[in-house]
Amino acid sequence: MTEKQYGGNSPFNKQEKIIKNSNKEADILKTNKKQTGSVKKSESETKKENILKAGEIAKQVKEYAKKIIKKDVFLEEIAEKIESKIIELGGKPAFPVNLSINEIAAHFTPSHDDKTKAHGLLKVDFGVHIDGFLSDTAFSVDLENSEENKKLIQATEKALESAIKITNLKTPLNQIGKKIQETIEYCKFNPIINLSGHSMNKYELHAGITIPNIDNKKEDEIGEGLFAIEPFATSGSGKVKDSKPSEIYSLADEKNVRSQLAREILNYIIKEYKTNPFCLRWIAKKFGNSSVFALKQLKENGNLHQYPQLVEISGAKVSQAEDTILIEKDRTIITTN
Ligand code: CO
Repeated sequence: MTEKQYGGNSPFNKQEKIIKNSNKEADILKTNKKQTGSVKKSESETKKENILKAGEIAKQVKEYAKKIIKKDVFLEEIAEKIESKIIELGGKPAFPVNLSINEIAAHFTPSHDDKTKAHGLLKVDFGVHIDGFLSDTAFSVDLENSEENKKLIQATEKALESAIKITNLKTPLNQIGKKIQETIEYCKFNPIINLSGHSMNKYELHAGITIPNIDNKKEDEIGEGLFAIEPFATSGSGKVKDSKPSEIYSLADEKNVRSQLAREILNYIIKEYKTNPFCLRWIAKKFGNSSVFALKQLKENGNLHQYPQLVEISGAKVSQAEDTILIEKDRTIITTN
């Protein structure tokens, strides 16, 4: 799941502070090398196991998803099947499956009563977590037998592959972006300049480091840790804007709310999702249709951040590819492929 570069004050800045306070186990990956005691070492081994398992489940679910996705199948059915498969294999969805069509680049998930059917150029972006340890992956499918769609899909797949190939702990961030940009431009398309990959930590999908899809001149080395690389390509001008609100939310503030149902839902969100994104579809399944209004109350009370759908500004089609990589001192493991 991607991150839009907002510039200036974004809702994410506020959210990040809460995450930092409520998640004392964050930054585990970065501090691994400082740990010395044998107890702590086995703890870090468990963490690595969970990261690898979350990646392995994502890999299997990706193969499953490719089989069940066909033109005119309801998006809601696809999302439910993918999320159920994640659970069946022993993981939990790290965020609602994003099923974004054509010019919608990201952050669309079907509602509980959505009747949209799969068509066009469909991006499938999903994540798995084991005890908060994450994997994040995406692929695109062409459901209208279009040459342009196929070429767009190839462009992001190639960009992802070549970016991962040059990445180790010493690679400057802008070099990863440059490789993505060059590969997509070589395919005669444009990268989406204001969408990016990201670092990840426990229960923290966007943990602070941005992996650009262009040469953004930032020469900091990527370093050790867990990262999602996610190029987006378009035949349009190469930028997204916020569009309609999506059905995807995340916890922004745990403050009290008057309505009893809203409070009950808030407690469930805190316990079940923590700071991971979730959607109305999940809440409605658990609490029934009256949760639609309760979720609105939580939003108005300032408890939730609602993600906007991200749409290409010229209305052109967008493709996406994404994998998660674990960068260690002496090697880089692609956990989701
Ligand atoms: Co992502």
